[in-house]
Amino acid sequence: AQAEKNGFDHFMLKEIHEQPRALKDTLSGRLAADGSGVQLPEITLAPEKIKSIRKIFITACGTAYHAGLVGKQVIEKLARIPVEVDIASEFRYRQPLIDQDTLVLVISQSGETADTLAALREAKRLGAEVVAVTNVVDSSIAREADHVLYTWAGPEIAVASTKAYTTQLVAMYLIALHLGALRGTVSPAETRQIVTELKKLGDKAHVILNNCKAIKDFAADCSRCEDVFFIGRGLDHAVALEGSLKLKEISYVHAEAYAAGELKHGTLALIEEGVPVVALTTQQSLFEKTVSNIKEVKAREAKVVAVAMDGLKEVSKVADHVIFIPNTHPILAPVLTVIPLQLLAYHTAVARGCDVDRPRNLAKSVTVE
Ligand code: G6P
Repeated sequence: AQAEKNGFDHFMLKEIHEQPRALKDTLSGRLAADGSGVQLPEITLAPEKIKSIRKIFITACGTAYHAGLVGKQVIEKLARIPVEVDIASEFRYRQPLIDQDTLVLVISQSGETADTLAALREAKRLGAEVVAVTNVVDSSIAREADHVLYTWAGPEIAVASTKAYTTQLVAMYLIALHLGALRGTVSPAETRQIVTELKKLGDKAHVILNNCKAIKDFAADCSRCEDVFFIGRGLDHAVALEGSLKLKEISYVHAEAYAAGELKHGTLALIEEGVPVVALTTQQSLFEKTVSNIKEVKAREAKVVAVAMDGLKEVSKVADHVIFIPNTHPILAPVLTVIPLQLLAYHTAVARGCDVDRPRNLAKSVTVE
């Protein structure tokens, strides 16, 4: 097993470091050579069908569900189709309003999660076409879906999902651009910008991996705390949820993710001296608002680490520490922002002596309800 870890102490750390390659592999062959758009021959939805879609449901469990939360924002922005995201175990029992103008997207690393498979079957029974995003070739979900978009993350061994998540995000961008191109809702210029930036994600992920020393110090703080909070707005909120889940799953430190503006309507009372807060701020348009939320927690003496998009320098004035991610198209930020959060969870779990790759009570693939 040591050899399979390729010199890393744990599979999780190995898989975090495989992301630059996994991102490139998932994009490989799917971007037009001239940079003008995407090509997804595996999605054989007729153009008329794509034009007639009036609603999309995304359904999944765990980390894949969090990828769906990003997918919703991305598809709504680029393809202008309303998207609902449901946890698969909820979706399958709630009589979702599906007709033939509804598209259902299921996301599953393993392709075997019982609830997600049941949700897929329910969607088909109700007459929807189903597109699956999965990492395992010929898995049950791949076989039963109408269309399959594989993520090429390679085998993921650690229970906590890392490279599967970032490649699922890439799949969301590809699908959104594909739908947006056929519906005429995304301009050729913006498509080009996003395609150009997609190609650079792998190298930028690499830069973050070589540059994350500060996270280890913050992890030492987190390892001694009862609770950690993650805040962000928009896409940053979706990533905050994933960062919080990662930390809980493997370090057993309780964590909560909040939409930054909602904290004051919820658990701001729990923020007191020394409580770690991870504040995500990658979106210029929301920057001022998130900064004021950081000030709210600083006023209660929280210890704040910000993960910010390069260029948003002002955040250094309010946060105790800032990790800057390389500049990219704002919509792509989640792929990069999550990496420091994965490392935070990893180093916190190591500091607490946890079994990183096999956390208690969790399974890699849950094939029973
Ligand atoms: C389990 C794993 C999670 C995973 C979820 C969904 O709970 O521990 O890491 O996100 O299942 O798995 P899937 O294979 O469907 O993506």
